[in-house]
Amino acid sequence: MLSQDIQTAINAQIKNEYYSSYLYLSMAAYCESINFSGFGGWLRKQSEEELTHAMRLFDYMLDREGRIVLDKIGQPPSEFGSLVEMFTQVLEHEKEVSGMINKLYELALSENDHATSVELQWFIQEQVEEEKNASDMVENIKLAGDNSAALLMLDRQLAGESTNAPGE
Ligand SMILES: [Fe+2]
Ligand SMILES: [Fe+2]
Repeated sequence: MLSQDIQTAINAQIKNEYYSSYLYLSMAAYCESINFSGFGGWLRKQSEEELTHAMRLFDYMLDREGRIVLDKIGQPPSEFGSLVEMFTQVLEHEKEVSGMINKLYELALSENDHATSVELQWFIQEQVEEEKNASDMVENIKLAGDNSAALLMLDRQLAGESTNAPGE
């Protein structure tokens, strides 16, 4: 049985994962509204992935006979400035989430809740990947700089479209 503190913290993290999903969905909408469908697609995929994180915690709680209490999800911003600024926000957000997961892990350790600790190790590893992906995006966009042709090429690459003519 999960302690009340662990249940409260996992419920909060389910909400945090939903907020991440909502934030990336808002960013996707913004990218697509300025015709960066590749960046938008990347963000849509991130948004969907955050939902799988929430559901993983949701299922874990039910498996352990915890009580799910869904919290209110905050409103994400709808304006994001430049692409560099936006993807820097993605990276910052992922770092923040890593901090939340680490806190949750420390709580599980302090309670000798081994099953929860093991479950959270998956999230700790996932955050390494998430931070790396976001950081790669920031680096690539910074390389493109103010060169709109380079940004467009990056966008098309993400969209999975070939930038070369057939036969090239
Ligand atoms: Fe997540
Ligand atoms: Fe994430």
